[in-house]
Amino acid sequence: MLRLVLPLTLIAGVAAAQSPPMAGEGLRLSRQWCAACHAVSRDMPPPAGDAAPSFPAIAAAPSTTETGLRIFLQTPHANMPNFQLSRAELEAVVNYLLSLRP
Ligand code: HEC
Repeated sequence: MLRLVLPLTLIAGVAAAQSPPMAGEGLRLSRQWCAACHAVSRDMPPPAGDAAPSFPAIAAAPSTTETGLRIFLQTPHANMPNFQLSRAELEAVVNYLLSLRP
């Protein structure tokens, strides 16, 4: 039993240790790709023209789900330029957005 539990604990430990850097990467990508139109963090004032909801507001909306965000960001959007985010980048941005949940 111990032989099975130990590796699992190790894997869980590694995954947990990686989540803050992932969120940091998401913030970096959001600043790079999204900040022209969205306020991407609580301390960032909304950019001029407030057509796009802020990331904290998106995160707080009850309708926001992880799946919904993934689909949204992989689908061409009328008002948003087409992003060429890699899978890992998409993952990071979605994780970051969800980390803003109140
Ligand atoms: C060129 C401006 C622009 C950029 C850049 C942009 N967005 Fe948007 N985004 C908008 C606008 C405008 C809306 C709201 C309009 C709409 O929903 O039709 C929106 C809506 C959204 C929504 C849906 C919000 C809701 O109400 O559910 C999400 C999620 C989102 N953007 C994420 C992102 C992410 C992540 C990035 C960066 C990878 C990004 N956007 C970059 C303009 C932009």
